[in-house]
Amino acid sequence: MPFGIILLLLIISEAVCFTPYARVGQTQALVGTKLFYAGGYTGLTQAYSNELFYLNLSSSFQASNPPWVSLTNANIPISPTYSTFVVSPFDNFTIYLIGGYLVNPSTNTPDNNTLIYAFNSNVTEWTMPTISGSSPKRQEMEGVVDNTGKVYIFGGSVITNYTTRKGIFFNDMNILDMGTNIWSTIQPTSNFPNPRIDYTAILLDNNIIVYIGGREYANDINQTEILVDLHQIQLFDTKNSNWSSMTATGVNLQARRFHTAVLAKNGQIIIYGGENINFTPVTPNLAILNTSVTPYNWYIPTINAGPYDPPLLAEHSATMYEDLMIIAFGIFYEL
Ligand SMILES: *[C@@H]1O[C@H](CO)[C@@H](O)[C@H](O)[C@H]1NC(C)=O
Ligand SMILES: *[C@@H]1O[C@H](CO)[C@@H](O)[C@H](O)[C@H]1NC(C)=O
Ligand SMILES: *[C@@H]1O[C@H](CO)[C@@H](O)[C@H](O)[C@H]1NC(C)=O
Ligand SMILES: *[C@@H]1O[C@H](CO)[C@@H](O)[C@H](O)[C@H]1NC(C)=O
Ligand SMILES: *[C@@H]1O[C@H](CO)[C@@H](O)[C@H](O)[C@H]1NC(C)=O
Ligand SMILES: *[C@@H]1O[C@H](CO)[C@@H](O)[C@H](O)[C@H]1NC(C)=O
Ligand SMILES: *[C@@H]1O[C@H](CO)[C@@H](O)[C@H](O)[C@H]1NC(C)=O
Ligand SMILES: *[C@@H]1O[C@H](CO)[C@@H](O)[C@H](O)[C@H]1NC(C)=O
Repeated sequence: MPFGIILLLLIISEAVCFTPYARVGQTQALVGTKLFYAGGYTGLTQAYSNELFYLNLSSSFQASNPPWVSLTNANIPISPTYSTFVVSPFDNFTIYLIGGYLVNPSTNTPDNNTLIYAFNSNVTEWTMPTISGSSPKRQEMEGVVDNTGKVYIFGGSVITNYTTRKGIFFNDMNILDMGTNIWSTIQPTSNFPNPRIDYTAILLDNNIIVYIGGREYANDINQTEILVDLHQIQLFDTKNSNWSSMTATGVNLQARRFHTAVLAKNGQIIIYGGENINFTPVTPNLAILNTSVTPYNWYIPTINAGPYDPPLLAEHSATMYEDLMIIAFGIFYEL
Protein backbone atom coordinates (compact mmCIF):
# COMPACT_ATOMS: atom_id res chain seq x y z
CA MET A 1 0.00 0.00 0.00
CA PRO A 2 1.61 3.22 -1.08
CA PHE A 3 0.54 5.81 1.43
CA GLY A 4 -1.00 4.24 4.52
CA ILE A 5 -3.81 5.83 6.46
CA ILE A 6 -4.04 9.59 6.66
CA LEU A 7 -5.94 11.21 9.49
CA LEU A 8 -6.53 14.86 10.13
CA LEU A 9 -3.99 15.71 12.77
CA LEU A 10 -4.90 19.28 13.44
CA ILE A 11 -8.25 19.74 15.07
CA ILE A 12 -10.67 21.84 13.09
CA SER A 13 -12.01 24.85 14.93
CA GLU A 14 -14.89 27.02 13.83
CA ALA A 15 -12.87 30.12 14.64
CA VAL A 16 -10.52 29.34 11.76
CA CYS A 17 -11.81 30.24 8.34
CA PHE A 18 -9.31 28.07 6.48
CA THR A 19 -8.18 24.61 7.46
CA PRO A 20 -6.02 22.65 5.05
CA TYR A 21 -6.72 19.01 4.31
CA ALA A 22 -4.67 16.34 6.01
CA ARG A 23 -1.71 15.21 3.91
CA VAL A 24 1.66 13.45 3.78
CA GLY A 25 4.83 14.26 1.89
CA GLN A 26 4.25 18.05 1.89
CA THR A 27 7.26 20.31 2.10
CA GLN A 28 7.74 23.40 4.23
CA ALA A 29 9.84 26.57 4.44
CA LEU A 30 9.99 29.38 6.99
CA VAL A 31 10.12 32.99 5.78
CA GLY A 32 10.03 35.46 8.64
CA THR A 33 6.83 34.70 10.56
CA LYS A 34 5.27 32.74 7.68
CA LEU A 35 5.67 28.99 7.75
CA PHE A 36 4.78 27.92 4.22
CA TYR A 37 3.57 24.43 3.32
CA ALA A 38 3.45 23.20 -0.26
CA GLY A 39 1.80 20.21 -1.91
CA GLY A 40 1.68 16.69 -0.52
CA TYR A 41 -0.59 13.71 -1.00
CA THR A 42 -4.12 14.13 0.39
CA GLY A 43 -5.80 10.97 -0.83
CA LEU A 44 -8.73 13.12 -2.01
CA THR A 45 -10.08 13.31 -5.57
CA GLN A 46 -7.17 15.46 -6.55
CA ALA A 47 -4.86 13.19 -4.62
CA TYR A 48 -1.71 15.22 -5.25
CA SER A 49 -2.12 18.76 -3.95
CA ASN A 50 -0.81 21.90 -5.62
CA GLU A 51 -1.79 24.11 -2.69
CA LEU A 52 0.44 26.61 -0.97
CA PHE A 53 -0.60 28.14 2.35
CA TYR A 54 1.05 29.25 5.54
CA LEU A 55 0.87 29.31 9.30
CA ASN A 56 0.94 32.84 10.68
CA LEU A 57 3.53 32.82 13.47
CA SER A 58 3.39 36.54 14.25
CA SER A 59 1.72 35.90 17.58
CA SER A 60 1.33 32.90 19.87
CA PHE A 61 -1.53 30.51 19.23
CA GLN A 62 -3.17 27.34 20.52
CA ALA A 63 -2.09 24.18 18.73
CA SER A 64 -5.80 23.28 18.60
CA ASN A 65 -6.52 26.44 16.63
CA PRO A 66 -3.61 27.06 14.25
CA PRO A 67 -3.73 30.40 12.39
CA TRP A 68 -3.66 29.04 8.83
CA VAL A 69 -3.70 31.57 6.02
CA SER A 70 -4.77 30.61 2.52
CA LEU A 71 -3.33 32.50 -0.42
CA THR A 72 -5.38 33.37 -3.43
CA ASN A 73 -3.72 32.82 -6.79
CA ALA A 74 -0.79 31.11 -5.13
CA ASN A 75 -1.48 27.57 -6.32
CA ILE A 76 1.70 25.88 -7.41
CA PRO A 77 1.99 25.28 -11.20
CA ILE A 78 2.72 21.63 -10.28
CA SER A 79 1.61 19.25 -7.53
CA PRO A 80 4.76 18.32 -5.60
CA THR A 81 5.16 15.48 -3.08
CA TYR A 82 8.43 14.41 -1.39
CA SER A 83 10.13 17.52 -2.80
CA THR A 84 12.57 19.94 -1.24
CA PHE A 85 11.80 23.62 -0.47
CA VAL A 86 14.67 26.02 0.23
CA VAL A 87 14.78 29.75 0.94
CA SER A 88 17.29 31.86 -1.00
CA PRO A 89 19.82 33.59 1.28
CA PHE A 90 20.17 36.30 -1.40
CA ASP A 91 16.81 37.88 -0.46
CA ASN A 92 15.38 35.60 2.28
CA PHE A 93 11.98 35.51 0.57
CA THR A 94 12.36 33.54 -2.66
CA ILE A 95 11.72 29.83 -2.15
CA TYR A 96 12.84 27.17 -4.62
CA LEU A 97 10.76 24.05 -4.94
CA ILE A 98 13.01 21.29 -6.24
CA GLY A 99 12.15 17.82 -7.49
CA GLY A 100 9.86 15.29 -5.88
CA TYR A 101 6.91 13.42 -7.36
CA LEU A 102 5.65 16.03 -9.78
CA VAL A 103 2.06 15.73 -10.98
CA ASN A 104 0.34 18.00 -13.47
CA PRO A 105 -2.64 19.53 -11.59
CA SER A 106 -4.78 19.65 -14.74
CA THR A 107 -4.24 16.09 -15.95
CA ASN A 108 -3.33 14.43 -12.62
CA THR A 109 -0.50 12.58 -14.38
CA PRO A 110 3.27 12.71 -13.76
CA ASP A 111 4.92 15.71 -15.37
CA ASN A 112 8.65 16.12 -14.94
CA ASN A 113 9.16 18.75 -17.66
CA THR A 114 10.12 21.41 -15.14
CA LEU A 115 12.18 20.43 -12.13
CA ILE A 116 12.44 23.76 -10.30
CA TYR A 117 9.75 26.30 -9.50
CA ALA A 118 10.45 29.53 -7.62
CA PHE A 119 8.01 31.23 -5.28
CA ASN A 120 8.54 34.91 -4.54
CA SER A 121 6.84 35.17 -1.16
CA ASN A 122 7.14 38.95 -1.15
CA VAL A 123 4.88 39.41 -4.16
CA THR A 124 3.17 35.96 -3.97
CA GLU A 125 4.16 34.77 -7.42
CA TRP A 126 5.42 31.52 -8.92
CA THR A 127 7.98 31.52 -11.72
CA MET A 128 10.03 28.88 -13.51
CA PRO A 129 13.65 29.99 -13.34
CA THR A 130 15.99 29.06 -16.17
CA ILE A 131 18.38 26.46 -14.82
CA SER A 132 21.46 25.10 -16.54
CA GLY A 133 23.68 22.11 -16.00
CA SER A 134 22.37 18.57 -15.92
CA SER A 135 19.29 18.62 -13.73
CA PRO A 136 18.85 15.48 -11.66
CA LYS A 137 15.23 14.39 -11.33
CA ARG A 138 15.09 13.12 -7.77
CA GLN A 139 12.46 12.35 -5.17
CA GLU A 140 12.35 11.44 -1.47
CA MET A 141 15.48 13.51 -0.78
CA GLU A 142 16.14 16.60 1.34
CA GLY A 143 18.09 19.64 0.22
CA VAL A 144 19.83 22.10 2.49
CA VAL A 145 20.99 25.57 1.48
CA ASP A 146 24.09 27.25 2.90
CA ASN A 147 24.62 31.00 3.31
CA THR A 148 26.37 31.22 -0.09
CA GLY A 149 23.21 30.01 -1.84
CA LYS A 150 24.40 26.49 -2.64
CA VAL A 151 21.72 23.83 -2.29
CA TYR A 152 23.07 20.35 -1.50
CA ILE A 153 20.92 17.40 -2.49
CA PHE A 154 22.26 13.94 -1.74
CA GLY A 155 20.97 10.89 -3.62
CA GLY A 156 17.22 10.39 -3.66
CA SER A 157 15.24 8.15 -5.95
CA VAL A 158 13.97 8.08 -9.50
CA ILE A 159 10.51 6.57 -9.43
CA THR A 160 8.37 6.85 -12.53
CA ASN A 161 5.40 4.77 -11.38
CA TYR A 162 3.97 6.72 -8.44
CA THR A 163 1.66 3.84 -7.51
CA THR A 164 4.25 1.13 -6.99
CA ARG A 165 6.89 3.63 -5.80
CA LYS A 166 9.62 1.23 -6.85
CA GLY A 167 12.64 2.88 -8.36
CA ILE A 168 16.37 3.37 -8.36
CA PHE A 169 18.23 5.01 -5.46
CA PHE A 170 21.25 7.29 -5.99
CA ASN A 171 24.25 8.43 -3.96
CA ASP A 172 25.68 11.31 -5.93
CA MET A 173 25.78 14.83 -4.49
CA ASN A 174 23.95 17.36 -6.64
CA ILE A 175 24.57 21.02 -5.95
CA LEU A 176 22.46 23.90 -7.24
CA ASP A 177 23.98 27.36 -7.04
CA MET A 178 20.99 29.69 -6.47
CA GLY A 179 23.18 32.65 -7.46
CA THR A 180 23.87 31.36 -10.98
CA ASN A 181 21.08 28.75 -11.29
CA ILE A 182 23.64 26.16 -12.41
CA TRP A 183 23.72 22.52 -11.28
CA SER A 184 26.88 20.60 -10.61
CA THR A 185 27.33 17.00 -9.52
CA ILE A 186 29.93 15.26 -7.39
CA GLN A 187 29.95 11.70 -8.69
CA PRO A 188 30.17 9.02 -6.03
CA THR A 189 33.51 7.50 -5.13
CA SER A 190 34.23 4.63 -2.80
CA ASN A 191 33.87 6.66 0.40
CA PHE A 192 30.37 7.93 -0.46
CA PRO A 193 27.42 6.63 1.57
CA ASN A 194 25.31 3.97 -0.12
CA PRO A 195 22.44 5.10 -2.35
CA ARG A 196 19.80 6.47 0.02
CA ILE A 197 16.33 8.07 0.25
CA ASP A 198 13.95 9.29 3.00
CA TYR A 199 16.79 10.52 5.25
CA THR A 200 17.08 13.88 7.00
CA ALA A 201 19.79 16.47 6.32
CA ILE A 202 20.84 19.19 8.78
CA LEU A 203 23.47 21.82 8.06
CA LEU A 204 25.50 22.70 11.15
CA ASP A 205 27.16 26.08 11.76
CA ASN A 206 30.55 24.48 10.99
CA ASN A 207 29.48 23.78 7.35
CA ILE A 208 28.98 20.07 7.94
CA ILE A 209 25.77 18.43 6.73
CA VAL A 210 24.58 15.67 9.05
CA TYR A 211 22.67 12.83 7.36
CA ILE A 212 20.49 10.70 9.63
CA GLY A 213 18.47 7.56 8.91
CA GLY A 214 16.42 6.73 5.86
CA ARG A 215 16.45 3.76 3.50
CA GLU A 216 19.57 2.62 1.65
CA TYR A 217 20.90 -0.17 -0.52
CA ALA A 218 22.73 -2.78 1.51
CA ASN A 219 26.23 -3.77 0.38
CA ASP A 220 24.92 -6.80 -1.49
CA ILE A 221 24.60 -7.71 -5.11
CA ASN A 222 20.80 -7.44 -4.99
CA GLN A 223 20.75 -3.91 -3.60
CA THR A 224 18.44 -5.04 -0.80
CA GLU A 225 16.67 -2.05 0.75
CA ILE A 226 17.45 -1.65 4.45
CA LEU A 227 17.00 1.10 7.04
CA VAL A 228 20.10 3.03 8.06
CA ASP A 229 21.22 2.55 11.68
CA LEU A 230 20.67 5.93 13.40
CA HIS A 231 24.07 5.62 15.03
CA GLN A 232 25.80 5.48 11.65
CA ILE A 233 26.00 9.17 10.89
CA GLN A 234 27.24 10.37 7.49
CA LEU A 235 28.79 13.82 7.30
CA PHE A 236 29.39 15.96 4.24
CA ASP A 237 31.88 18.79 4.60
CA THR A 238 30.64 21.56 2.26
CA LYS A 239 33.91 23.52 2.49
CA ASN A 240 36.14 20.62 1.42
CA SER A 241 33.48 18.67 -0.53
CA ASN A 242 34.25 15.38 1.15
CA TRP A 243 32.40 12.74 3.14
CA SER A 244 33.21 11.18 6.47
CA SER A 245 31.27 8.95 8.82
CA MET A 246 30.87 8.70 12.55
CA THR A 247 29.41 6.15 14.94
CA ALA A 248 27.29 8.09 17.41
CA THR A 249 27.14 6.99 21.04
CA GLY A 250 24.15 7.04 23.38
CA VAL A 251 20.76 5.39 23.67
CA ASN A 252 19.38 2.71 21.37
CA LEU A 253 16.91 3.94 18.79
CA GLN A 254 14.83 2.06 16.27
CA ALA A 255 15.96 2.71 12.68
CA ARG A 256 13.50 4.72 10.61
CA ARG A 257 12.64 6.62 7.47
CA PHE A 258 10.32 9.58 6.83
CA HIS A 259 11.23 11.02 10.23
CA THR A 260 12.05 14.73 10.60
CA ALA A 261 15.06 16.56 12.00
CA VAL A 262 15.43 20.15 13.18
CA LEU A 263 18.42 22.03 14.54
CA ALA A 264 17.90 23.52 18.01
CA LYS A 265 20.34 25.57 20.09
CA ASN A 266 23.90 24.42 20.81
CA GLY A 267 24.05 21.89 17.98
CA GLN A 268 21.17 19.75 19.24
CA ILE A 269 19.43 17.90 16.38
CA ILE A 270 15.92 16.82 17.37
CA ILE A 271 14.48 13.93 15.39
CA TYR A 272 10.78 13.15 15.49
CA GLY A 273 8.65 10.22 14.34
CA GLY A 274 9.27 8.17 11.25
CA GLU A 275 8.24 4.69 10.22
CA ASN A 276 9.59 1.25 9.60
CA ILE A 277 10.19 -0.15 6.13
CA ASN A 278 6.82 -1.98 6.28
CA PHE A 279 4.81 1.14 7.32
CA THR A 280 4.76 0.37 11.04
CA PRO A 281 5.56 2.87 13.81
CA VAL A 282 8.96 3.24 15.44
CA THR A 283 10.05 4.26 18.92
CA PRO A 284 11.05 6.43 20.61
CA ASN A 285 9.10 9.23 18.97
CA LEU A 286 11.63 11.88 19.87
CA ALA A 287 15.39 11.77 20.39
CA ILE A 288 18.18 14.34 20.34
CA LEU A 289 21.62 14.09 18.80
CA ASN A 290 24.15 16.26 20.60
CA THR A 291 26.63 17.37 17.93
CA SER A 292 28.63 19.49 20.40
CA VAL A 293 30.51 16.37 21.44
CA THR A 294 32.62 14.02 19.28
CA PRO A 295 31.43 11.41 18.58
CA TYR A 296 27.90 12.76 18.56
CA ASN A 297 25.66 11.48 21.35
CA TRP A 298 22.00 10.39 21.21
CA TYR A 299 19.81 11.00 24.24
CA ILE A 300 16.13 11.15 25.09
CA PRO A 301 15.11 14.28 26.99
CA THR A 302 12.54 14.35 29.75
CA ILE A 303 9.34 15.66 28.20
CA ASN A 304 6.60 17.08 30.37
CA ALA A 305 3.10 16.04 29.38
CA GLY A 306 1.25 18.88 27.67
CA PRO A 307 -2.24 19.39 26.30
CA TYR A 308 -1.25 18.68 22.70
CA ASP A 309 1.40 15.97 22.78
CA PRO A 310 1.71 14.90 19.17
CA PRO A 311 1.07 11.24 18.30
CA LEU A 312 3.43 8.81 16.57
CA LEU A 313 3.84 10.38 13.15
CA ALA A 314 5.63 9.78 9.90
CA GLU A 315 5.82 11.74 6.64
CA HIS A 316 5.00 14.86 8.68
CA SER A 317 6.80 18.24 8.69
CA ALA A 318 8.84 19.75 11.50
CA THR A 319 10.28 23.26 11.63
CA MET A 320 12.23 25.12 14.28
CA TYR A 321 10.86 28.58 15.05
CA GLU A 322 12.62 30.37 17.90
CA ASP A 323 12.40 27.80 20.72
CA LEU A 324 9.51 25.85 19.20
CA MET A 325 9.53 22.74 17.07
CA ILE A 326 6.34 22.97 15.02
CA ILE A 327 5.03 19.63 13.75
CA ALA A 328 2.24 19.36 11.20
CA PHE A 329 0.50 16.78 8.99
CA GLY A 330 1.70 13.22 8.38
CA ILE A 331 0.48 9.70 9.00
CA PHE A 332 -0.78 9.12 12.53
CA TYR A 333 -0.03 5.68 13.97
CA GLU A 334 -2.19 4.29 16.74
CA LEU A 335 -0.44 1.72 18.89
C1 LIG B 1 -1.07 37.29 11.50
O1 LIG B 1 -1.23 37.39 12.89
C2 LIG B 1 -1.17 38.74 13.35
C3 LIG B 1 -1.18 38.70 14.88
O2 LIG B 1 -2.24 37.93 15.35
C4 LIG B 1 -2.32 39.53 12.77
O3 LIG B 1 -2.24 40.88 13.19
C5 LIG B 1 -2.24 39.47 11.25
O4 LIG B 1 -3.38 40.10 10.69
C6 LIG B 1 -2.19 38.02 10.77
N1 LIG B 1 -1.97 38.01 9.34
C7 LIG B 1 -2.77 37.33 8.51
C8 LIG B 1 -2.45 37.44 7.07
O5 LIG B 1 -3.71 36.66 8.90
C1 LIG C 1 19.02 36.72 5.33
O1 LIG C 1 18.92 36.23 6.67
C2 LIG C 1 20.19 35.98 7.25
C3 LIG C 1 19.97 35.32 8.58
O2 LIG C 1 19.08 36.06 9.36
C4 LIG C 1 20.97 37.29 7.35
O3 LIG C 1 22.25 37.04 7.89
C5 LIG C 1 21.14 37.85 5.95
O4 LIG C 1 21.77 39.12 6.04
C6 LIG C 1 19.79 38.02 5.28
N1 LIG C 1 19.99 38.40 3.91
C7 LIG C 1 19.29 39.36 3.32
C8 LIG C 1 19.59 39.63 1.88
O5 LIG C 1 18.45 40.02 3.91
C1 LIG D 1 8.45 43.47 -1.97
O1 LIG D 1 7.34 43.78 -2.80
C2 LIG D 1 6.99 45.16 -2.82
C3 LIG D 1 5.78 45.31 -3.73
O2 LIG D 1 4.73 44.55 -3.24
C4 LIG D 1 8.13 46.00 -3.35
O3 LIG D 1 7.80 47.36 -3.28
C5 LIG D 1 9.37 45.71 -2.52
O4 LIG D 1 10.47 46.39 -3.11
C6 LIG D 1 9.67 44.23 -2.48
N1 LIG D 1 10.79 44.00 -1.60
C7 LIG D 1 11.96 43.56 -2.06
C8 LIG D 1 13.04 43.43 -1.03
O5 LIG D 1 12.13 43.25 -3.22
C1 LIG E 1 9.94 11.88 -16.99
O1 LIG E 1 8.72 11.73 -17.69
C2 LIG E 1 8.79 10.90 -18.84
C3 LIG E 1 7.47 10.96 -19.56
O2 LIG E 1 6.40 10.72 -18.67
C4 LIG E 1 9.15 9.49 -18.39
O3 LIG E 1 9.28 8.63 -19.50
C5 LIG E 1 10.48 9.53 -17.65
O4 LIG E 1 10.79 8.26 -17.14
C6 LIG E 1 10.41 10.53 -16.50
N1 LIG E 1 11.73 10.65 -15.90
C7 LIG E 1 11.91 10.72 -14.59
C8 LIG E 1 13.31 10.81 -14.16
O5 LIG E 1 10.99 10.74 -13.80
C1 LIG F 1 2.18 1.34 -12.17
O1 LIG F 1 2.19 0.04 -11.65
C2 LIG F 1 0.90 -0.49 -11.46
C3 LIG F 1 1.04 -1.81 -10.71
O2 LIG F 1 2.03 -2.61 -11.32
C4 LIG F 1 0.24 -0.66 -12.82
O3 LIG F 1 -1.07 -1.17 -12.65
C5 LIG F 1 0.15 0.71 -13.48
O4 LIG F 1 -0.36 0.59 -14.80
C6 LIG F 1 1.52 1.35 -13.54
N1 LIG F 1 1.36 2.73 -14.00
C7 LIG F 1 2.04 3.22 -15.01
C8 LIG F 1 1.77 4.66 -15.36
O5 LIG F 1 2.87 2.56 -15.64
C1 LIG G 1 20.17 -12.21 -4.56
O1 LIG G 1 19.02 -12.66 -5.26
C2 LIG G 1 19.17 -13.98 -5.76
C3 LIG G 1 17.97 -14.29 -6.64
O2 LIG G 1 16.76 -13.93 -5.98
C4 LIG G 1 19.31 -14.94 -4.58
O3 LIG G 1 19.47 -16.25 -5.04
C5 LIG G 1 20.52 -14.53 -3.77
O4 LIG G 1 20.59 -15.33 -2.59
C6 LIG G 1 20.44 -13.08 -3.36
N1 LIG G 1 21.69 -12.68 -2.75
C7 LIG G 1 21.76 -11.90 -1.67
C8 LIG G 1 23.13 -11.55 -1.19
O5 LIG G 1 20.76 -11.47 -1.10
C1 LIG H 1 38.36 16.64 3.81
O1 LIG H 1 39.24 17.57 3.21
C2 LIG H 1 40.06 18.28 4.14
C3 LIG H 1 40.88 19.31 3.37
O2 LIG H 1 41.52 18.71 2.27
C4 LIG H 1 40.95 17.28 4.90
O3 LIG H 1 41.67 18.00 5.88
C5 LIG H 1 40.06 16.27 5.59
O4 LIG H 1 40.87 15.29 6.20
C6 LIG H 1 39.15 15.58 4.57
N1 LIG H 1 38.27 14.70 5.28
C7 LIG H 1 38.08 13.45 4.88
C8 LIG H 1 37.14 12.64 5.71
O5 LIG H 1 38.60 12.97 3.88
C1 LIG I 1 26.37 18.11 24.64
O1 LIG I 1 27.70 17.71 24.82
C2 LIG I 1 28.51 18.68 25.47
C3 LIG I 1 29.95 18.16 25.47
O2 LIG I 1 30.02 16.95 26.15
C4 LIG I 1 27.99 18.90 26.88
O3 LIG I 1 28.75 19.92 27.50
C5 LIG I 1 26.54 19.35 26.79
O4 LIG I 1 26.01 19.45 28.09
C6 LIG I 1 25.72 18.36 25.99
N1 LIG I 1 24.40 18.93 25.79
C7 LIG I 1 23.30 18.34 26.22
C8 LIG I 1 22.04 19.10 25.98
O5 LIG I 1 23.31 17.25 26.73
